[in-house]
Amino acid sequence: MINNFSLNSSINAVVDSIERTSTGVEGLDDLLNGGYPKGCIVLVSGTPGTGKTIICFQFLYAGLKSGGKALYLSSDEPIQNLLQEAEKFNIPLKQYRDNDQLKLLYLDPSNGDIYEDIKREISNTEYSRIVIDSLSPLAETPIWMVNNGQEIVPSADSVNTVSYPIESIQAKRMHLRRLIGDLKNIPATVLLTSEIPEGSRSLSRDSVSEFLADGIILLDLDTTMDRRKLTIRKMRKTKHTLKPQNIEITENGIKII
Ligand SMILES: Nc1ncnc2c1ncn2[C@@H]1O[C@H](COP(=O)(O)OP(=O)(O)OP(=O)(O)O)[C@@H](O)[C@H]1O
Ligand SMILES: [Mg+2]
Repeated sequence: MINNFSLNSSINAVVDSIERTSTGVEGLDDLLNGGYPKGCIVLVSGTPGTGKTIICFQFLYAGLKSGGKALYLSSDEPIQNLLQEAEKFNIPLKQYRDNDQLKLLYLDPSNGDIYEDIKREISNTEYSRIVIDSLSPLAETPIWMVNNGQEIVPSADSVNTVSYPIESIQAKRMHLRRLIGDLKNIPATVLLTSEIPEGSRSLSRDSVSEFLADGIILLDLDTTMDRRKLTIRKMRKTKHTLKPQNIEITENGIKII
């Protein structure tokens, strides 16, 4: 007969056999049986200023320190600002960029070839960690449909050649599904950030990526109590707490307290 103890042990044995990638956040690996499942896609969601970019810095730094290669695609901040910001948390991204371990690239959401650009960058299988910060401007890029059902992002050239625009949730879903599908086909572990509008109950601005991602880390502010919170809302292949954790932003980034 299997008692509760042996059942729990066998569940833990399965969970523990999953290869994990360190989050770089003090205290978070312990809550995730060692880290994010290797090769998974994690959505980091939160209202503005909740620490999404900082958590990305820490994730990249953990990999870079152990010799891995990483890619940071930013659609929010110019690269110079990011390098300066990371420096404030004692994360020397510039040093890793200079020794070619880290590639940082600014994605201009108004660029019609943005999805092609991303696809080209992520096709380099040398990266063990990839960050797209943030998904929101990309998800909001209007999609144009041509008659044969193919979607394209509008550009100056395409305006005269396409038939009709579609900005429906279905079109957004196709758009993101394709991007996330491509990310699932590569070996890297991926962090995507999404900005949640203040007061929204959704877990992402696009209301789609939370279903497609393997994991969701929700960052939150309790302004009345002057507290910051981190909640693991979803993490495939992982038994985890749903309880919001108190966090602090220190000179070394975010930590669970
Ligand atoms: N040195 C510091 N010590 C403590 N907290 C800091 C420090 N520097 C910044 N912060 C906090 O971190 C926040 C910025 O974090 P971050 O840039 O990661 O947020 P974000 O969620 O990416 O924001 P956005 O949605 O605007 O991109 C600031 O609003 C501030 O509250
Ligand atoms: Mg940010």
